[in-house]
Amino acid sequence: MKVINVVGARPNFMKMAPIIEAMNRYPDQIRHLLVHTGQHYDENMSKVFFSDLGMPRPDIDLEVGSGSHAEQTAKVMMAFEKVCEKHTPDLVIVVGDVNSTMACAITAKKLGIKVAHVEAGLRSRDMSMPEEINRLCTDVLCDFLFTTDSMATENLLQEGIAREKIHFVGNVMIDTLLRHRTLASALPVTERLGLEPGSYACLTMHRPSNVDDRDTLVGILEALVEIARDLPIVFPIHPRTLDKVQRFGLEHYFCRGEHVRGIWITDPLGYLEFIHLTMYARMVLTDSGGLQEETTVLGIPCITLRHNTERPITCLQGTNRLAGNKREAILDAVHAVLNGETPSGLVPELWDGEAAIRIVDVLLAELD
Ligand code: UD1
Repeated sequence: MKVINVVGARPNFMKMAPIIEAMNRYPDQIRHLLVHTGQHYDENMSKVFFSDLGMPRPDIDLEVGSGSHAEQTAKVMMAFEKVCEKHTPDLVIVVGDVNSTMACAITAKKLGIKVAHVEAGLRSRDMSMPEEINRLCTDVLCDFLFTTDSMATENLLQEGIAREKIHFVGNVMIDTLLRHRTLASALPVTERLGLEPGSYACLTMHRPSNVDDRDTLVGILEALVEIARDLPIVFPIHPRTLDKVQRFGLEHYFCRGEHVRGIWITDPLGYLEFIHLTMYARMVLTDSGGLQEETTVLGIPCITLRHNTERPITCLQGTNRLAGNKREAILDAVHAVLNGETPSGLVPELWDGEAAIRIVDVLLAELD
């Protein structure tokens, strides 16, 4: 079986790493190529993840870089079409919900190549999110839909997708987390940043709905500054957020360097350093998708700065609560955590470190 595995942006790398590892167990049955679309290209948004995760370097880098949604999607499609024509794979595997995921799924399917989507069926029901459009377009085309939980499976069935295409396998991102948590925990990250374990909050924020509008961003920052008077907040800042902060002239909300209180900006961290920061945080504030899942498994309270989530299982079973992006609601959620109102913190079914092995087993059984 000849497979092309696709990665493009930061949250893809930790999902693909265990799949490649599982495929390497069958060198006689599976030949695979790794294609990086180049959607993310900075050292700390891309390259550091390959070394942290022990992933092979990409065989092919499409180097598409940044652009508008249409531009970026189109560039990936044009470049990936040539790769598929040259290498004629039996299967293309895409993960997650970024522009590269959708672009490569459409391209392969139109060339008559089978496509598998890992992390299928997640739905926020919020069509203003580019990721929701990517998820819907990808899932409707795919031949294999690998889901992380029963709610995702249910979403696909409700959309009329045939049951035999859907495989509930668990969560590949958690495969990677469980494999690396011991290593991550031993790193000197909190020491380096001058932080007391358990006495700081970790923040990530990059969604257009939170950072593209000045008033919305200011409202969030006002709440965060208030929280940071008692609980320092560490903020490894995404490039698009940094860009908005500078354009809107909001630098005065942040400090760089060693301060006990306040919101401290750091550059984006590598995978292992970031997991360390999460593990020892009092709480995490985020608008990311994957971090809602990682905090659930690590048992760290997570406050999601969004009104909806495509990962509701992390609220029902995990440590996640939705706070939206308004000042009062964020403060209420933080105070609830500080008062010990932590949700149950169960780990969802099959988030056990074996998801990638299940995926490869399905593919070998059905495609060989
Ligand atoms: C993308 C994904 C989002 C994911 C996020 C993780 C889509 C639609 N969105 O959003 O789901 O949560 O990645 O980071 O695919 N930039 C750099 N260096 C880089 C990459 C980006 O400076 O290596 C800057 C560029 O100015 C770029 C901007 O960040 O224009 C946005 O990058 P892009 O990949 O378009 O979307 P993200 O916001 O990162």
